[in-house]
Amino acid sequence: MPIKACVFDAYGTLFDVAAAAREAASEPGRDALAGVWSKVASDWRLKQLQYTWLRAVADAHTDFWEVTQNGLDWALEASGLDDPDLRERLLALYWELSAFPEVPTMLAELKARGYQTAILSNGSPDMLAGAVTSAGIGDLLDDVLSVEDVGVFKPHASVYQLVPDRFDCGPDEVLFVSSNGWDAAAAAGFGFRCAWVNRAGEPMDRLPWTPDRVLTDLTSIPEIAGVF
Ligand code: LAC
Repeated sequence: MPIKACVFDAYGTLFDVAAAAREAASEPGRDALAGVWSKVASDWRLKQLQYTWLRAVADAHTDFWEVTQNGLDWALEASGLDDPDLRERLLALYWELSAFPEVPTMLAELKARGYQTAILSNGSPDMLAGAVTSAGIGDLLDDVLSVEDVGVFKPHASVYQLVPDRFDCGPDEVLFVSSNGWDAAAAAGFGFRCAWVNRAGEPMDRLPWTPDRVLTDLTSIPEIAGVF
């Protein structure tokens, strides 16, 4: 079936999740962070995601803002950073993460070609609204779908089901794009066409499903959407 909707994961896919720690580390007076910002960023991201998976399996949902704070607290302690001002600064920066540079042009091209466009994210609606506004891409998205509508995190199938419900289409009419290998794999298992944006050149996740395409950035998404 031709693709009707192109749907994007948010954090790590459209928005650069390492930007918060990187930007904070470049600010005056952040010497303690400067040497470890990259470890803080990766620990923060990994713990944030682990907490989403564990809460989904344990049927103990909370919103993404809480697991984002929990993940940061773990990451700061792991790097010996006990600094409430730094914690507040990093959390504030998370609400205004930069979009990857190719995002606005890529979304505009999808709209010019007649596709529906949306975000499907673990993020809470207010977090996603902040990121979309700060990236200036609100006019290029038909919708921003949050797991808060179903009360469980990815990769629960009820999250992916939000997309066919919203766009009144089959899963095979959706091109889903994620930088998270596990998200792209699970979405492929759900029945979407999937592109994994593997910016870091990571190995393929060993899961029962594989994405249709592996990319290094988002530039080619409009072309790829046309060949299914
Ligand atoms: C999201 C996380 C998984 O935006 O990146 O859903």
